[in-house]
Amino acid sequence: MAGDRYAPRKMDLAELIGVLEEEHRTMRRGLARVRDTASKGDYGEASVALRQLDSTFKQHIADEESSILRLLIDELGAKGAEREIRVFQQHRPIHKLMQTVGELASKSARELGTEQGKLESLFTEHTILEEENVFPRALGIFKGRSQQHQSQ
Ligand SMILES: [Fe+2]
Ligand SMILES: [Fe+2]
Repeated sequence: MAGDRYAPRKMDLAELIGVLEEEHRTMRRGLARVRDTASKGDYGEASVALRQLDSTFKQHIADEESSILRLLIDELGAKGAEREIRVFQQHRPIHKLMQTVGELASKSARELGTEQGKLESLFTEHTILEEENVFPRALGIFKGRSQQHQSQ
């Protein structure tokens, strides 16, 4: 996975989800900045924005895969968490598109627009799936376990 080199941040799952949702907004703004700067021909700014985006994304998916996905598989099994696994499988194509956009940023404005559009729509779809399905499900499991723990 693209986030392999990044150690997961140590925090409570509820807190982590808050951080991840905030990063979704930050990364969406970052993608918009890449689009705006590149369309003005400001490739230097576009590549600064892409580099920031790249490191935020790698840390972000390291946390999602090691904390959230692990919890879901642990509780539901790979079969039970099939839908969530499919959502996390979008991490690789998203990261690949980020790299492609980075390579095209100073080369081909036309191709860049196409790949940038693909990246933004896949990223938006991905974050909506996480915020509406994956995160609430993981949070439900986490809260259930905390209650169980307290009543023991
Ligand atoms: Fe994700
Ligand atoms: Fe995410």
